[in-house]
Amino acid sequence: MIRPRRSELATPASNEWMFAKSAASGADLVFLDLEDACAPAEREKSRGKAAKALRELDWGATTRAIRMNGVDTRWAHGDVIEVVTEAREALDVIIVPKVRRARDVWWVDVLLTQLEETLGLEKRIGLEVLIEETEGLENVGEIVRASDRLEAVIFGAGDFSASQGARVDTNFDPFVDYPGDLWHYARARVIVAARSAGIDAIDAPFPNYRDPDAYRTACDRAAAMGYVGKWAIHPSQVDIANAAFAPTPEEIEHARRLVAAYREAEAQGRGATALDGMLVDAAHLRHADTVARTADLLGL
Ligand code: GLV
Ligand code: MG
Repeated sequence: MIRPRRSELATPASNEWMFAKSAASGADLVFLDLEDACAPAEREKSRGKAAKALRELDWGATTRAIRMNGVDTRWAHGDVIEVVTEAREALDVIIVPKVRRARDVWWVDVLLTQLEETLGLEKRIGLEVLIEETEGLENVGEIVRASDRLEAVIFGAGDFSASQGARVDTNFDPFVDYPGDLWHYARARVIVAARSAGIDAIDAPFPNYRDPDAYRTACDRAAAMGYVGKWAIHPSQVDIANAAFAPTPEEIEHARRLVAAYREAEAQGRGATALDGMLVDAAHLRHADTVARTADLLGL
């Protein structure tokens, strides 16, 4: 985990009137979307709008990103070249959608390397990829190792459902209409692949932005699996995700006590001990370490 990603807020790159609100939303990452939230006729014009906003708005601590179009579309190279050339160091991350094979990531990586060299950029642009095609899920193990720019994988349940042929219409309620989690296999596959490559995983968008309780439940479930954040489609979802993916003061306190108890046992030549009536061994120490590192990253 190299930067916080509790909330990743999507904003259509065609809609300039939304940019200032997104920049001030408190999201860990905002991405100006040149792909599916942007009408095809607007995509080319929106590159300049995105670059200007990345350069000129006050983003505070928010990571500044764009979502480019997929590498199998006619927009892909123009998205990368125009936005990077105009935004320069004001762009932190590019999100690559509909990734199917490692070579899709490699193509963006090579283009970025050439651009960074040509433009003399001092900063290296990071990448996130969306796993939202059945083919991408099949190949996720090679995709997460395709570039050392890769910082996170996002699970995209919307396109993934379509790719799978799932019968989920707008009335589908994920907590009612299917026992368990319809996307559990995909979510589990994505987090395991991400972790095995040492990068983060971000959970899917939740379309019903008028149901904050359901969004919170979805955040909590993703956090339980090891996801570090969730997509937000509306600024009202940002605070919910930021809270759900941060360790609570009780968790931080417990983690610190656990480390102390373990170290004391270790000093006495024991590999395990107990804390509050529960076993503490090396595996628990790893959990506590994750909590502590997340807390440090978030300045908690
Ligand atoms: C996101 O792009 C999704 O398809 O869910
Ligand atoms: Mg999608």
